[in-house]
Amino acid sequence: MKVAVAVETHPGERRVALVPDGVKSLTGQGWAVVIESGAGLRASFSDSDYSAAGAEVIADLRPCLADVSLLATVQAPSPLLAAALAPGTATVGFFDPNDPGQVLRVLSERQATVFSFDLLPRISRAQPMDALSSQATVGGYRAVLCAANHFGRFFPMLMTAAGTVPPAKVLVMGAGVAGLQAIATARRLGAVVRAYDVRAAAREETESLGAKFVDLGITAEGAGGYARELTPEQLAASQAALAGEVARSDIVITTAAVPGRRAPILLTTPMVEAMASGSIVVDMAADSGGNCEATKPGEEIVVGGATVVGMTNPASTMPTHASVLYSRNVVNLVKVIQSAARPRDGQSGLGELDFTDEIVAGTCLLAQGRPVNLRAAEILGLEPVSLTTEGSE
Ligand code: NAI
Repeated sequence: MKVAVAVETHPGERRVALVPDGVKSLTGQGWAVVIESGAGLRASFSDSDYSAAGAEVIADLRPCLADVSLLATVQAPSPLLAAALAPGTATVGFFDPNDPGQVLRVLSERQATVFSFDLLPRISRAQPMDALSSQATVGGYRAVLCAANHFGRFFPMLMTAAGTVPPAKVLVMGAGVAGLQAIATARRLGAVVRAYDVRAAAREETESLGAKFVDLGITAEGAGGYARELTPEQLAASQAALAGEVARSDIVITTAAVPGRRAPILLTTPMVEAMASGSIVVDMAADSGGNCEATKPGEEIVVGGATVVGMTNPASTMPTHASVLYSRNVVNLVKVIQSAARPRDGQSGLGELDFTDEIVAGTCLLAQGRPVNLRAAEILGLEPVSLTTEGSE
């Protein structure tokens, strides 16, 4: 069976789905790997690195997809690439079921089986392939470095011959995977860190990293360990209760998200205007609408005396290690998919897939072009397929 890796075409994307070590792992599992020339360049992996690892490097992937069983990407493939897939090809990558755009229709027409990391069940067995977590870890780290770069002061307290400078006061909103990494990174740099979340478990995790948990008395636990959306009353109450915390902070890093929903507005414009001159807000939720009312995705704007950075695709700002971790997630997911595949004699595809595996079924968005996910079914105007009863080829 053959796996293909294309040059990412999403604007600003610098990651690559497989790094040379990932090629070695897959070839060791019996896969042939074909990679489009230049796919790893923006993450500092050259074509010759891939050749040395055992991949076939080709100039243009699209004419060579006939015998490819699986396409590995970071972002969803472009409609042009999707249209060139052989019928029944599987794809693995990030595929936001809420924003599938035109490519979902093309993949459905190509009878593709689409696996999306956005849908991965957050269970212990799935941790080695949890790309949401690996990329959020990169993002949380980069958000703090971004804040430090914009900040006109030190993070640590320094006692120098020229006098003492106080430590930076950092507030992290949303203490999930990205938020916890932001807390840890800000602490390593010497800041005094406070954090807020609506999940009860976040308190212990925050405190274990040496930060103080801000308890507003608002909890909103949803399904699968995620937060649920706050009611308008709870949201207004949290904004009011956070106003003082924000005004006292030099740096606010926001990471709050609710799957399938617009990011909650935790920081109103008046709250930002009340921050001291030189303060920084880094909004990691900019891609899903932003936690700060003033955020402009991909831009840095000044609100009162504060700078608000709308960070988009934070993991892509550190493409080498983001790709290394992502590639391991891909290899581990491919391993699980491979063990669920029943290839047919003389054919190149994955053949029939066994969907009794919770990870295989959970990450599947389209099975042979048919929607498994309710949102995808709605967008395609098709009936959703139940994998438990029907299975798929
Ligand atoms: P996420 O990216 O969906 O959300 C980020 C954070 O925002 C979450 O901690 C959430 O509680 C918080 N949030 C949402 N609305 C908020 C609001 N109004 N105010 C303040 N904070 C708000 O979540 P992420 O980081 O992907 O993790 C979700 C959960 O999954 C966590 O409990 C995490 O520990 C768990 N997890 C489990 C794994 C496993 O067992 N395999 C692996 C990774 C995460």
